[in-house]
Amino acid sequence: MSTSGRSDGDTWDIATSVGATAVMVASARAVETASDQPLIRDEFAQLLIDGPELAALVAKMSATYTADPEQAAVRAHMVNYQAARTHFFDAYFAAAAAAGIRQHVILASGLDSRAYRLDWPAGTVVYEIDQPKVLKYKAATLAANGVQPVVDRREVPADLRFDWPKTLRDSGFDPEQATAWLAEGLLMFLPGDAEERLFADIDALSAPRSRACIEDFTVDDAAREAYEKRRIKADELRRRLGDENVFDPGDLWYTEDERRDPAAWFDARGWSVEALKGRDYLTQVGRPLPEDPSVAATFRAVWISAEKP
Ligand SMILES: C[S@@+](CC[C@H](N)C(=O)[O-])C[C@H]1O[C@@H](n2cnc3c(N)ncnc32)[C@H](O)[C@@H]1O
Repeated sequence: MSTSGRSDGDTWDIATSVGATAVMVASARAVETASDQPLIRDEFAQLLIDGPELAALVAKMSATYTADPEQAAVRAHMVNYQAARTHFFDAYFAAAAAAGIRQHVILASGLDSRAYRLDWPAGTVVYEIDQPKVLKYKAATLAANGVQPVVDRREVPADLRFDWPKTLRDSGFDPEQATAWLAEGLLMFLPGDAEERLFADIDALSAPRSRACIEDFTVDDAAREAYEKRRIKADELRRRLGDENVFDPGDLWYTEDERRDPAAWFDARGWSVEALKGRDYLTQVGRPLPEDPSVAATFRAVWISAEKP
C-alpha cells in the first residue's frame, strides 16, 4: 500500500523526502553531543548537517520546532531517544567486534558516522547501504573537512526495496563470514512486502554466528491516531507559516501496511532473539519519557537483537 508522500521506486538525495529524515536524526545527535552531559559523542553530526546543501532544510526544521509546543516536545524527546538509540547500537557493534565479527552491514546508513568514529579492530569491513546520493553526500562532506573513515568503509548504493544483495556482494561482501547487521530508523520507510523480503535476505546472507539488530516501530491504533493528529497539526502550521517553514516527515511512513514482528520472524527461523523496549532503555540511562501521550504513542520502538546459531 502506498502513502501520500511516497511512490514505488521513488529516489531522493540528502535534502529531500526520506533523505531529510537522516538529517533530522543527525541533528538530534548533534544537539546531544553539544549538551552538558552527553550520553554519546558524535562529533561528525554537526559537520554533516552544516553542509550548504542542507541550510534551507535545517532552517525549516528549526522553524517547525519553535512554532508549536507539541513539535517542541517531539524534538526534545527525539534528542533523548536518538541519544539512547545511538548508545545502544554503538554497544551492539562493540560487542559484535569483541566476539570476533569483522563484517558489518549498516542498512539505510544515512548520516551514521560509525565508520568514522567507532573503534574497529584491524581487518574490519563496514558496508553502508543507502541511496547513492545520500552515501556520496556524507563521504564528500566529511572528506571536505579532512575526515576519513577509520575502517574499510564500503559504499553500497542500492535501494533496500529491490535487489540490494547483488550490489552488496559485488562490493565484496562474503556470505560465508559471520556478519553484524543493523537496521536503525529504516523499517517504517519500507512497504510491508519489502520489509519481509529484507528479513529473508538478511537471513539468507547470514553465516552461522551472525547477528542482527533491528529497530521495530509499534504502529497500533494509538500510534495511528497520534500520527493523524500530527498530520493535521502540520497542515495547520503550513497554513500559518507557509510550506517553506514546516518540516513534516509524517507522510513518508508506510503506517497502514501489514507488518511482521521481526522478533517472531527471526525466532521462527532459529535465531535467538531478545527484544528491548526503547523506553525501558531510556529509563535505564536516566532519560525522561515524553509526558504528552500523543508524543509517547509515536515513540514506541522495540530494539530487537538476534543471533543465528
Ligand atoms: C531516519 S534515516 C536513518 C539513518 C541512519 N540509520 C541513522 O539512524 O542515522 C532513514 C534512512 O533510510 C534510508 N532509506 C530508507 N528507505 C530506503 C531504501 N528503500 N533504500 C535505501 N535507503 C533507504 C534513507 O535514505 C535514510 O538515510
